[in-house]
Amino acid sequence: MNFGSASFPRIRMRRTRQAPWSRDLVRETTLHAADFIWPIFVVEGEGRIEPVGAMPGVDRISIDIAVERAREAADLGIPCIALFPNIDRSLRTEDCAEAWNPDNLVCRATRAIRAAVPDIGVMEDVALDPYSATGHDGIVRDGIIVNDESVEALVRQALVQAEAGANIIGPSDMMDGRIGAMRDALEGAGHQDVLLLSYAAKYASSFYGPFREAVGADATLKGDKKTYQMDSGNTDEALREVALDLAEGADMVMVKPGLAYLDICQRIKQEFRVPTYAYQVSGEYAMIEAAAANGWIDREKAILESLSAFRRAGCDGILTYYAVEVARMLRASS
Ligand code: PBG
Repeated sequence: MNFGSASFPRIRMRRTRQAPWSRDLVRETTLHAADFIWPIFVVEGEGRIEPVGAMPGVDRISIDIAVERAREAADLGIPCIALFPNIDRSLRTEDCAEAWNPDNLVCRATRAIRAAVPDIGVMEDVALDPYSATGHDGIVRDGIIVNDESVEALVRQALVQAEAGANIIGPSDMMDGRIGAMRDALEGAGHQDVLLLSYAAKYASSFYGPFREAVGADATLKGDKKTYQMDSGNTDEALREVALDLAEGADMVMVKPGLAYLDICQRIKQEFRVPTYAYQVSGEYAMIEAAAANGWIDREKAILESLSAFRRAGCDGILTYYAVEVARMLRASS
């Protein structure tokens, strides 16, 4: 960039910062309700609202409450909601068969939300961890997370979700070849309008801890996910993952976690110029909440600042547990 020979005092950078109106006028990135995908946790029951310990302000909710909250999100202009189930311990098995039961919890939740709130997109996560006796995202044989058999299982899971009305399928499993297999299966089954938002660059991260409590995978998970999720030291590998997923038929790609991987978001957006999302994950949420609860940071300002970082890095949207709260703040301030 060439700024010529401009110098002080002809140039005073503080001129545009002098007042709210001038700051508003020159701001490069702003947040809108339409930037958000709202993840929610679903449980069996009716009228059930169960707080998640490590995520103050986030609940596990039964389908009837999820429908109400989806309505609220749609009314605030949030375009999409993402569903994560916490299923009964007795349904978590070695073969993970509950994942492709067409009447499983997320499929029923999807049908209910699609019927009652047709103006919001419904995204479903594809991965076996909520259904697995070992808490892994794929099928485990002799302690190994086997790739190709996992892909077959994930395809079955994606198909029942599409059948239930999912608008976006979000594979978060990080198996090789899953996007192509899912795209072919969706085309074959007449679901050509279902979007694939690939968790393309998903890192093996300590920031998922509170989420695992929310879906009940903290108690089941044996070992770690380092043989399929990415190593936090790598960048080029993220670009290869994205290139592959796009070639296999992904419509949109995601980086996860968010704030600790903003460089990845920026590089992906610059290289590929495709719809790029970041997941502000449970641990990021928990850190803000914990610091705010101690009076160490200004909660609302920290939330807005962390979300605008994603937009600045080039993300088209953000999966965030703060979606509804921020949409309300934005509405109040406009
Ligand atoms: C499951 C999945 C995880 C998250 C989304 N989908 C956890 C994991 O991979 O262990 C994490 C989301 C969050 O931490 O908010 N495949």
